[in-house]
Amino acid sequence: EQRVFSGVQPTGNLHLGNYLGAIKRFAELQHDYPCLYCVVDLHAITQPPSVWGGPEGLAANTREVAAAYLAAGIDPKTQIIFNQSQVPQHAELAWLFNCVARMGWLNRMTQFKEKAGKDKENASVGLFAYPTLMAADILLYRATHVPVGDDQKQHLELTRDIAQKFNNDFAGSIARNGFEDAYFPLPEPLITGPATRVMSLRDGSKKMSKSDPSDYSRIVLTDDADTIAKKIRKAKTDPEPLPSEAEGLAGRAEAENLVGLFAAMSDRSRDDVLKEYGGSAFSVFKPALAELTVEKIAPIADEMRRLTADPGTVDAILSDGAEKAAVIAEKVMAEVGAIVGFVSGRKK
Ligand code: TYM
Repeated sequence: EQRVFSGVQPTGNLHLGNYLGAIKRFAELQHDYPCLYCVVDLHAITQPPSVWGGPEGLAANTREVAAAYLAAGIDPKTQIIFNQSQVPQHAELAWLFNCVARMGWLNRMTQFKEKAGKDKENASVGLFAYPTLMAADILLYRATHVPVGDDQKQHLELTRDIAQKFNNDFAGSIARNGFEDAYFPLPEPLITGPATRVMSLRDGSKKMSKSDPSDYSRIVLTDDADTIAKKIRKAKTDPEPLPSEAEGLAGRAEAENLVGLFAAMSDRSRDDVLKEYGGSAFSVFKPALAELTVEKIAPIADEMRRLTADPGTVDAILSDGAEKAAVIAEKVMAEVGAIVGFVSGRKK
């Protein structure tokens, strides 16, 4: 049985990379798989409260990510949209995985090194254990496919390692509990399309990110048309016209990024975009890209504003989703507990 799981952190500043690398793909996949899309609030709090805006900020950002899911077209009637903290089994399975994963595995995680910076002694224990919670998110639903941007690849590899070690460590018990094959699937990352790594508009060697101090480095989903046009006009480029094939973008990070954005938003390949714009100067391409971005992003931003103005409706969708997620999570956690040997029986 196949199932998709993915998540986005409610840390504010949702940007074009989050949309094209993840949320847009989430919406596409709902036609092929049953999907769970989570707002990972437990992950957000691994960083200091100033990063996620404290309690009011966290609640507002949680509703904003949920609104982005809905505005992108994910159907809450057929798919499951919820926030992580409403299903306590995420934290429960994460604890178990803290006991399966090895210190050495987590020590290799590049995202921890980036986010902790130089002052590792002062990073939260949660930030270090972040990837075991992510593995729990996915495996709690025994998900088989995980759409993410390129930066999450290493975390997906760790998730597979954890699943495999659990399956091996408890192989006998898994069989005695009546599961024929391995208990957890080894989930596959889905990292495809022209926007798996959207770069900063100011520096083609840096990823577009929520935490970049420069507002001009990213287009956020709630930017208005003028702001979008201005950010694209000011985007860094080189002086050459565009090449006529994608191959010619090698070594031109900024040009490659802008062509990738155009391709992702118009659902075309980069070669196809360059058939039209090859030989054009950026003075021609940038206004076309700005127009396309406004056309694709403005309706999403409008819908997000409409939805977040009515927090009651968004909250009801999240609780309804959590209810449905919990049905799966409770069953899996009960099975995992039996496999590990936890004595149970308390009436709930
Ligand atoms: P987060 O919240 O940082 O980002 C959400 C999604 O956006 C993708 N992304 C990008 N894609 C392309 N270009 C970019 N510049 C860019 N920046 C971000 C991310 O790859 C991600 O898919 N650890 C995850 C959240 C998470 C999760 C999970 C994901 C928690 N549990 C379980 C999948 C499955 C994260 O930090 O995403």
